[in-house]
Amino acid sequence: MAPKGSQRISKSILSWYGTHQRDLPWRTTRDPYHIWVSEIMLQQTQVETVIPYYHRFLKQFQTVNALARAPLDKVLKAWENMGYYARARNLHAAAQAVVKRFGGKIPDSWDALRSLPGVGDYTAGAILSMAFGLPLPAVDANVRRIVARLFAIEEPLDERLTARHVARLAAELVPRQGAGEFNQGLMDLGATLCTPKNPTCRACPLEPSCRARARRLEDTLPVAKKRGPIPHHHVTAGIMHDQAGRMLIAQRPNHGLLGGLWKFPGGKQTGKESLKSCLRRETLEELGIRIRVGASITSVNHAYTHFRITLHAFHGRLLTGTPQARGCRDWRWTEKGEFQEFAFSKADRKIIQALE
Ligand code: ADE
Repeated sequence: MAPKGSQRISKSILSWYGTHQRDLPWRTTRDPYHIWVSEIMLQQTQVETVIPYYHRFLKQFQTVNALARAPLDKVLKAWENMGYYARARNLHAAAQAVVKRFGGKIPDSWDALRSLPGVGDYTAGAILSMAFGLPLPAVDANVRRIVARLFAIEEPLDERLTARHVARLAAELVPRQGAGEFNQGLMDLGATLCTPKNPTCRACPLEPSCRARARRLEDTLPVAKKRGPIPHHHVTAGIMHDQAGRMLIAQRPNHGLLGGLWKFPGGKQTGKESLKSCLRRETLEELGIRIRVGASITSVNHAYTHFRITLHAFHGRLLTGTPQARGCRDWRWTEKGEFQEFAFSKADRKIIQALE
């Protein structure tokens, strides 16, 4: 059964969205491929950053079929600097599955969509409501925050039972008509008024229904679970040249945070080893080569969501062995001018800048 007042809430959102919606490129289409690409990009990246990537991506890969046929390297390059590269790998794999299993047509059923790599409850709900008009919720962090305030939920949202409760409440608010607009209305509300800090309740269409507001809890809800300090890793990178002056780069395996991206050989420092012995160990494991580590070039910092790194770059000289793809997917001797053709992480790009 819908919670009391859910119709009033959905009507207020639809009417507010009608006049206040943000003008965004994926809102002028019902093409499920376009909506899918936008939703995957928007999962961990801000709207302003996504817009140019969205246009470029769809220009480069105009259909699901085109994306499925493209080499993964090209897809990763189109994603470069947006982070969370598993999204790009999954999108590519899912496009291939859509071609193989659904004749290139993006499915309009929950089970079929959910079976695709990278499509979770959120993405399935977003595509089905926005492209196909099905009355399903798309529960992201904005929606969770709004629901927690609307119903004055005082437990941390990352508790499993609370998350389930919030998702159920969100589902009950979705109107039978206009679910896509309703879901995007909640997203806009979360982005512009019902913000994490200092929400603008006086302009909010839901103020009359909001239990947090009624109890002056809008600044305290939702409560966050306490987290420990985020870890800081030291990582090494070796800059090695061949006789022609080309530099050695390696491609990461296709899994993990930066999977499939290119890098300078090296890796994470463990235990009590020095940075130099870390670099010797990593290049041996990764490429089967023994190197002499020379002078330090630069150290750069980079922050990810759940940890930070300092990446230490050193000159290196190959002593014995020829590179082999042992702990990496591939490797290359590369001219400096060719670096633009490869997808690197932001931290590696900072090293490349220091080399210029
Ligand atoms: N964030 C995730 N999906 C979105 C959408 N469709 N519009 C605006 N922001 C979003």
